[in-house]
Amino acid sequence: MVSQGKARDPGHPAISLKGVTKSYGGKDVVRGVDIEIPRGELLVLIGPSGCGKTTILRMINRLVEPSGGTILIEGDDTAGMDPVALRRRMGYVIQGIGLFPHMRVSANVSVVPGLKGVAREEARIIADRALEMVGLSPGEFGGKWPRELSGGQQQRVGVARALAGDPEIILMDEPFGALDPISRITLQDELLDLQAKLEKTIVFVTHDIHEAMKMGNRIAIMKDGTLSQVGEPLQLLSSPADDFVSDFVGAENPLSMFSFMKVKDVSLRTDGLPLAGMDDDIEAARRSAHATSLWFFRDKFVYVIDDGRLQGSVSVERTGKRRSSGSLRDMLEPATTVRSSRTVQEALGLMVSSGIANVAVVDEDGKFLGILSFGDMYDIVQQQKEKSEENTL
Ligand SMILES: Nc1ncnc2c1ncn2[C@@H]1O[C@H](COP(=O)(O)OP(=O)(O)O)[C@@H](O)[C@H]1O
Ligand SMILES: [Mg+2]
Repeated sequence: MVSQGKARDPGHPAISLKGVTKSYGGKDVVRGVDIEIPRGELLVLIGPSGCGKTTILRMINRLVEPSGGTILIEGDDTAGMDPVALRRRMGYVIQGIGLFPHMRVSANVSVVPGLKGVAREEARIIADRALEMVGLSPGEFGGKWPRELSGGQQQRVGVARALAGDPEIILMDEPFGALDPISRITLQDELLDLQAKLEKTIVFVTHDIHEAMKMGNRIAIMKDGTLSQVGEPLQLLSSPADDFVSDFVGAENPLSMFSFMKVKDVSLRTDGLPLAGMDDDIEAARRSAHATSLWFFRDKFVYVIDDGRLQGSVSVERTGKRRSSGSLRDMLEPATTVRSSRTVQEALGLMVSSGIANVAVVDEDGKFLGILSFGDMYDIVQQQKEKSEENTL
């Protein structure tokens, strides 16, 4: 199994830890950790503060030397590698953002390409591309100082810096931990979109189980320096290894699965909806609202769709007070909408906070995909329960 060759063998995991231990002053802070991370996986490392997450990340890029065990990258033992060369193969987003305050944004992002000996002009091009990837215009932000940016923008720069060397592996230590909840959700979504395109191998540290469930292909749960369980979110919920894991992931709560399930991964209702076009009149809208096969929508309102995109809704109930001529275009109200990349939990939260039992779902371009209702969520829980029971048989 063990290859001595330098050539990349597709059979090797991107990262493997075998019996990895770290002691400080005779005390093991990481003990006997075994884990294999296949290429392209986003693995979340989670556990309470002080359980050894940062230490593991820093052993992977050899900022910390293990006291025992082996760490292999693409099948090669890192102990025999030049640590500096090793680090240049990996992007690292450190805990607490950590931009160089005396360097402008663009210079911060081109640090790694610069270290790799890339010519200045090319490093700048690479940095610009990385900034664009994280949604920052290089023209607007490249020349700014870190202190001139918001927390969310600084964190984006931190991610851009990790991407700029085009590394195979990215290590992220609580990358969104310092952000307000809204920016955190936005950056999570953006990272998931990026990852869908780039398919890097990512080790993502967090202590937030919701973040872990949302982000991770698999989640490794740590306690006091040892690994309690590694698995896919649903696996951890349906067959937790012990009480610690069960409590940690909220396995007792059937709604926990909503925290990682994406709206686009559940089957949305598309048939029998009350729909109308921008140029329809209110009578047409009334007919559509009456003809819907969904009783909870009947004679209430229509979704207005133009060129496949959701434009809003029009109530057909309150039209007594309204002129009944003219197109729906002039009567539009905003529809409660969730993007398909969001989690089912976020959709549920939106329903509860806006006091309605269903939300319209759109994709990134505003294209209307269907609706998700409270009742559908009940069905999702039942279906998943059945599936996980089948799987454990
Ligand atoms: N350089 C060090 N010297 C001594 N103890 C350390 C050192 N670095 C980390 N530790 C200890 O190792 C444990 C794990 O730390 P860390 O990996 O930072 O945890 P986490 O990132 O999970 O919060 C903690 O108890 C911490 O105090
Ligand atoms: Mg830490």
